[in-house]
Amino acid sequence: MNLQDYINIVPDWPKPGVQFKDITPLMGNGDAFRYATDQIVEYARKKEIDLVVGPEARGFIVGCPVAYSLGVGFAPVRKEGKLPRETIKVEYGLEYGKDVLTIHKDAVKPGQRVLITDDLLATGGTIDATIKLVEQLGGVVAGIAFLIELNYLNGRANLDGYDILTLLTYE
Ligand code: PRP
Repeated sequence: MNLQDYINIVPDWPKPGVQFKDITPLMGNGDAFRYATDQIVEYARKKEIDLVVGPEARGFIVGCPVAYSLGVGFAPVRKEGKLPRETIKVEYGLEYGKDVLTIHKDAVKPGQRVLITDDLLATGGTIDATIKLVEQLGGVVAGIAFLIELNYLNGRANLDGYDILTLLTYE
């Protein structure tokens, strides 16, 4: 199966010059969604994962079926003000300005081996912040899985030293 066939490239969205990679056709097709999920599960099995962690919103979509298949839990990373109990937070840079990601303080137990999931690696800022949250709670980032990597933004450079799986790359 060629997953590329299930990614819709939307020109000039959400702003001029951006070629948005829309994963909804992949999610909307049972065979493609299962195929992508199974590849991440196969990768995760080798890493002896205890917990999957993903940032909102599309990190949930990628991570939850993987967690279900592995038989482990899923912990959400969310923008500030969205999680109801005690959280820790990390600020991260956006193209313009800053944003904040948070996780529940008890979401990761010290020593747990964590798989981080998201739909897309662009600059790596979102996942760099997610790594910091997991590690502040004592988790071990054993792997990171994306559906898509945008090579031209060189996000991997921000995630140096971590093991990364991407199912599709765009040059
Ligand atoms: C997008 C995407 C990744 C992130 C990648 O999320 O789903 O999470 O950007 O970019 P980066 O590697 O440069 O950090 P977005 O910020 O649009 O949030 P959303 O999923 O809540 O819409």
